[in-house]
Amino acid sequence: MEMQKKCYIFCIIFVGLFLLSSCNLVENDKQALLDFVKKLPPLRVLNWDESSPVCKNWTGVSCNEEGSRVISLRLPGVGFHGPFPVNTLSRLSALQILSLRSNGINGSFPFDLGNLKNLSFLYLQCNNFSGPLPRDFSVWRNLSSVNLSNNKFSGNIPSSISSLRQLSSLNLANNSLFGLIPDLNLPNLELLNLSNNNLSGSVPKSLKRFPKSAFLGNNNVTLLELSSPVVSLPKEPILKSRNTTGKLSERALLGIIIAGCVLGLLGFAFLLLVCLLKRKVDDGFSGKLEKGDMSPEKVISRCQDANNKLVFFDGCNFAFDLEDLLRASAEVLGKGTFGTAYKAILEDATMVVVKRLKEVGVGKREFEQQMGVVGSIKHENVVELRAYYYSKDEKLIVYDYYSQGSLAVMLHGKRGENRTHLDWETRLRIAVGAARGIAQIHIENGGKLVHGNVKSSNIFLNSRQYGCVSDLGLSMVMNSLAPPIARAAGYRAPEVTDTRKATQASDVYSFGVMLLELLTGKSPIHTTSADEIVYLVRWVHSVVREEWTAEVFDVELLRYPNIEEELVEMLQIAMACVVRVPDQRPKMSEVVKMIENVRPTDYQNRSSGELKAENSVQTPPVAVFETDLSS
Ligand SMILES: *[C@@H]1O[C@H](CO)[C@@H](O)[C@H](O)[C@H]1NC(C)=O
Ligand SMILES: *[C@@H]1O[C@H](CO)[C@@H](O)[C@H](O)[C@H]1NC(C)=O
Ligand SMILES: *[C@@H]1O[C@H](CO)[C@@H](O)[C@H](O)[C@H]1NC(C)=O
Ligand SMILES: *[C@@H]1O[C@H](CO)[C@@H](O)[C@H](O)[C@H]1NC(C)=O
Ligand SMILES: *[C@@H]1O[C@H](CO)[C@@H](O)[C@H](O)[C@H]1NC(C)=O
Ligand SMILES: *[C@@H]1O[C@H](CO)[C@@H](O)[C@H](O)[C@H]1NC(C)=O
Ligand SMILES: *[C@@H]1O[C@H](CO)[C@@H](O)[C@H](O)[C@H]1NC(C)=O
Ligand SMILES: *[C@@H]1O[C@H](CO)[C@@H](O)[C@H](O)[C@H]1NC(C)=O
Ligand SMILES: *[C@@H]1O[C@H](CO)[C@@H](O)[C@H](O)[C@H]1NC(C)=O
Ligand SMILES: *[C@@H]1O[C@H](CO)[C@@H](O)[C@H](O)[C@H]1NC(C)=O
Ligand SMILES: *[C@@H]1O[C@H](CO)[C@@H](O)[C@H](O)[C@H]1NC(C)=O
Repeated sequence: MEMQKKCYIFCIIFVGLFLLSSCNLVENDKQALLDFVKKLPPLRVLNWDESSPVCKNWTGVSCNEEGSRVISLRLPGVGFHGPFPVNTLSRLSALQILSLRSNGINGSFPFDLGNLKNLSFLYLQCNNFSGPLPRDFSVWRNLSSVNLSNNKFSGNIPSSISSLRQLSSLNLANNSLFGLIPDLNLPNLELLNLSNNNLSGSVPKSLKRFPKSAFLGNNNVTLLELSSPVVSLPKEPILKSRNTTGKLSERALLGIIIAGCVLGLLGFAFLLLVCLLKRKVDDGFSGKLEKGDMSPEKVISRCQDANNKLVFFDGCNFAFDLEDLLRASAEVLGKGTFGTAYKAILEDATMVVVKRLKEVGVGKREFEQQMGVVGSIKHENVVELRAYYYSKDEKLIVYDYYSQGSLAVMLHGKRGENRTHLDWETRLRIAVGAARGIAQIHIENGGKLVHGNVKSSNIFLNSRQYGCVSDLGLSMVMNSLAPPIARAAGYRAPEVTDTRKATQASDVYSFGVMLLELLTGKSPIHTTSADEIVYLVRWVHSVVREEWTAEVFDVELLRYPNIEEELVEMLQIAMACVVRVPDQRPKMSEVVKMIENVRPTDYQNRSSGELKAENSVQTPPVAVFETDLSS
């Protein structure tokens, strides 16, 4: 009896443990990941939500087919700072790909990664690791690509590397390794770089097939043992290496695709990009590249400051990198209040907008914080910030591109001719969309975020043809508002002229001006045929006062029947927004409700949640952004 009871208990415990261990593997992996970011929080906010499935929704994480184990973790350039926490990622025992490149991780090599028996790709380059390399590389039998370059590793190169039969690429360049180069008899090794260390002695026979440049910048490394009578013709290694390199780059390319990890010369690419941008990019970046108009002394290390990286936001999935931008063809889209914008077409035909900011008035930390806030906004009526770059000399931000152009282009571009009219339906959708976008912005960051540059050239059409707003939050990182370029001046609330500080109330004012623009078809500041300067707000006031209301509206709108009431209602909303006294303007959330009430059936039952869900099924918004060409 007693025996039977014991047996039952034992069985239950056994079965329970078995179930726990097999079903919860992925949960254990999830916990390991959470522990990692808890101990080493990234600057960039990750969407690692405890309640969402780790295999489906987590940035940078991918699982095996069954979804039972995490097999790949890629978090390049997300702003990790500090030492690698022990007993975290080492628990991801099925991990095959680990990329934490281009962060600020310091301290010693995470030796406990030796647990990851299936590890094949290890990318820790461009961090601040120091101390020796792991002595025993043989624990990673499947390792095929290792990049530990651009750190501060010291000590010898462990000879155990020669046990890695699968190893095809090894980059240890730009560290402080010293001692002799071990004889690495690795037939599959195709890429090797040991340059810029403090190695000495001669290059062992097994590595002579690699080009000289793989050993440059060391203490006393001689490529050929001149004393040895067995020395082959000096040209042979070069020929050989050429052939190997050719094969290699193909393989390497494959590796890049498979690993989804960009291995190229980011720093070089970035410098080229910067140089090209400085040179008024109007033809392709690549065209300039071929001309080679880059002075070599300008090529500083991209890792000199590992913080200076293109930082991506969630949802971007690191689909492109600076070097992709480099290869892209680019054209100037326009000069706006905050800088010049370029359209870049990437190799996979993705189009993005790269904006070079001028006169950033805050330090790096503040800039990053602000971009973090802006980048975390996910709303169908707000143009998504894809990435940013901050260095002393250059500040870039990357947005989606919208092919239809901005509202400014749609309203004012090429009047007359056979231009397509912007019908009232579309204008209503633009108004309600833009209003929702700005209202969303106003509740972000604890209700403190300001758009600061609402105008028709920053309003685009999303994939559902609703308005969405771009260029937000930049006013907060810029030097106190620069004198506005001519056209933008018409949007500026009267109080901003004195305070030079945008507020949510001034956003409401600017939005009101934009509504007036939609209703009248007129620019906020324009000249009449008699060379008179007309301020839209004043003009509308004067016309309305004298009860010529119908004359206010865009002639293009008057052709649509039965919309007068809606036009007048919208005009009243616009007028409420452009009230002189900031406190008397409605809040943006109230404006949204008012606009939704203009045509309740169409817009009221479309909650933004609904819109979002619908939208997420579609392809990403086609394209747009600031095409403000006023000089
Ligand atoms: C996870 O992502 C899917 C689609 O990618 C989405 O439908 C779902 O809501 C997300 N779940 C959570 C909890 O975020
Ligand atoms: C390592 O990979 C092999 C083959 O892909 C697989 O059978 C094994 O389960 C993996 N190991 C772990 C710990 O997942
Ligand atoms: C790397 O460490 C040095 C000091 O050892 C520090 O000056 C530098 O900022 C660090 N870089 C990063 C990216 O953390
Ligand atoms: C790592 O960096 C942090 C700051 O980012 C610093 O406080 C710490 O001393 C560094 N540790 C090492 C070993 O360099
Ligand atoms: C190494 O990878 C191969 C497949 O590429 C796999 O069959 C093998 O199990 C792996 N070895 C280890 C130790 O995981
Ligand atoms: C390189 O090694 C030599 C001696 O082998 C030593 O004197 C020198 O300080 C080292 N340089 C660096 C930068 O570590
Ligand atoms: C190795 O890296 C150096 C720069 O550190 C570069 O000049 C050289 O071309 C590289 N060599 C190879 C073979 O990749
Ligand atoms: C460089 O190597 C040569 C011969 O191997 C040796 O005589 C010389 O002392 C070495 N120089 C240094 C700085 O280590
Ligand atoms: C390069 O390799 C190809 C085959 O991969 C071979 O036909 C050719 O002769 C080789 N060239 C040299 C110079 O070794
Ligand atoms: C390794 O990292 C360096 C620096 O980021 C990069 O230049 C190189 O292409 C990477 N890949 C390989 C295979 O060396
Ligand atoms: C090593 O650093 C130099 C400049 O410090 C840089 O040009 C080079 O690309 C780096 N090498 C690698 C392999 O990352």
